[in-house]
Amino acid sequence: MPLVKIISENKIIEENVTENTNLVVQAGIKKFPYPYLKYKCGMGTCGTCSSLIIKGQKYLPDPTWKEVKILKEKLQLGYRLACQFRISHDIEIKQD
Ligand code: FES
Repeated sequence: MPLVKIISENKIIEENVTENTNLVVQAGIKKFPYPYLKYKCGMGTCGTCSSLIIKGQKYLPDPTWKEVKILKEKLQLGYRLACQFRISHDIEIKQD
Protein backbone atom coordinates (compact mmCIF):
# COMPACT_ATOMS: atom_id res chain seq x y z
CA MET A 1 0.00 0.00 0.00
CA PRO A 2 1.50 3.35 -1.01
CA LEU A 3 2.39 5.77 1.76
CA VAL A 4 1.13 9.30 1.16
CA LYS A 5 2.74 12.20 3.00
CA ILE A 6 1.15 15.64 2.71
CA ILE A 7 2.65 18.89 3.91
CA SER A 8 0.06 21.64 4.20
CA GLU A 9 0.04 24.81 6.29
CA ASN A 10 2.86 23.59 8.53
CA LYS A 11 1.13 20.28 9.19
CA ILE A 12 2.48 16.95 8.05
CA ILE A 13 0.03 14.11 7.73
CA GLU A 14 0.70 10.67 6.34
CA GLU A 15 -1.16 7.46 5.85
CA ASN A 16 -1.12 4.39 3.69
CA VAL A 17 -3.73 4.28 0.93
CA THR A 18 -4.89 1.51 -1.35
CA GLU A 19 -3.31 1.36 -4.77
CA ASN A 20 -4.95 3.55 -7.45
CA THR A 21 -6.24 6.02 -4.86
CA ASN A 22 -7.16 9.50 -6.00
CA LEU A 23 -6.65 11.90 -3.10
CA VAL A 24 -9.45 14.29 -4.05
CA VAL A 25 -11.97 11.46 -4.34
CA GLN A 26 -10.82 10.22 -0.94
CA ALA A 27 -11.15 13.65 0.65
CA GLY A 28 -14.57 14.04 -0.96
CA ILE A 29 -15.84 11.04 0.97
CA LYS A 30 -14.22 12.38 4.15
CA LYS A 31 -11.38 9.88 4.26
CA PHE A 32 -7.66 10.61 4.45
CA PRO A 33 -6.43 13.23 3.55
CA TYR A 34 -9.65 15.03 4.57
CA PRO A 35 -9.71 17.78 5.84
CA TYR A 36 -6.12 18.66 5.02
CA LEU A 37 -6.18 18.51 1.24
CA LYS A 38 -7.17 21.69 -0.59
CA TYR A 39 -9.48 21.07 -3.54
CA LYS A 40 -12.74 22.29 -5.05
CA CYS A 41 -13.93 21.08 -8.44
CA GLY A 42 -12.32 17.66 -8.57
CA MET A 43 -12.32 17.99 -12.36
CA GLY A 44 -9.05 19.68 -13.21
CA THR A 45 -10.50 23.12 -13.82
CA CYS A 46 -10.08 25.23 -10.66
CA GLY A 47 -6.42 24.58 -9.76
CA THR A 48 -7.12 24.50 -6.02
CA CYS A 49 -5.57 21.03 -5.63
CA SER A 50 -2.26 22.18 -7.13
CA SER A 51 0.49 20.32 -5.29
CA LEU A 52 4.25 20.30 -5.45
CA ILE A 53 5.40 16.70 -5.79
CA ILE A 54 8.37 16.34 -3.48
CA LYS A 55 8.86 12.58 -3.85
CA GLY A 56 7.37 10.02 -6.19
CA GLN A 57 7.02 12.14 -9.33
CA LYS A 58 8.49 9.42 -11.52
CA TYR A 59 5.70 7.03 -10.61
CA LEU A 60 2.89 9.36 -11.60
CA PRO A 61 1.17 9.10 -14.97
CA ASP A 62 1.89 11.78 -17.53
CA PRO A 63 0.08 15.08 -16.88
CA THR A 64 -3.40 15.37 -18.35
CA TRP A 65 -4.24 18.13 -20.83
CA LYS A 66 -6.10 19.83 -17.99
CA GLU A 67 -2.92 19.96 -15.89
CA VAL A 68 -1.00 21.40 -18.82
CA LYS A 69 -3.71 24.06 -19.28
CA ILE A 70 -4.10 25.00 -15.60
CA LEU A 71 -0.56 24.66 -14.26
CA LYS A 72 1.33 26.10 -17.26
CA GLU A 73 4.96 26.77 -16.16
CA LYS A 74 4.30 25.36 -12.66
CA LEU A 75 4.15 21.93 -14.29
CA GLN A 76 7.87 22.22 -15.11
CA LEU A 77 8.54 23.21 -11.49
CA GLY A 78 7.09 19.90 -10.27
CA TYR A 79 3.48 20.80 -9.56
CA ARG A 80 0.57 18.52 -10.40
CA LEU A 81 -3.20 18.62 -9.88
CA ALA A 82 -4.02 16.04 -7.21
CA CYS A 83 -7.46 15.44 -8.68
CA GLN A 84 -5.93 14.27 -11.95
CA PHE A 85 -3.86 11.27 -10.94
CA ARG A 86 -4.09 8.04 -9.04
CA ILE A 87 -1.40 6.87 -6.69
CA SER A 88 0.46 3.61 -7.19
CA HIS A 89 3.67 4.26 -5.19
CA ASP A 90 4.81 6.22 -2.16
CA ILE A 91 4.42 9.95 -2.68
CA GLU A 92 5.11 13.16 -0.79
CA ILE A 93 3.33 16.36 -1.76
CA LYS A 94 3.18 19.92 -0.51
CA GLN A 95 0.34 22.38 -0.94
CA ASP A 96 0.93 26.12 -0.64
S1 FES B 1 -9.82 20.21 -7.49
FE1 FES B 1 -10.07 21.68 -9.04
S2 FES B 1 -8.37 21.32 -10.33
FE2 FES B 1 -8.23 19.75 -8.85
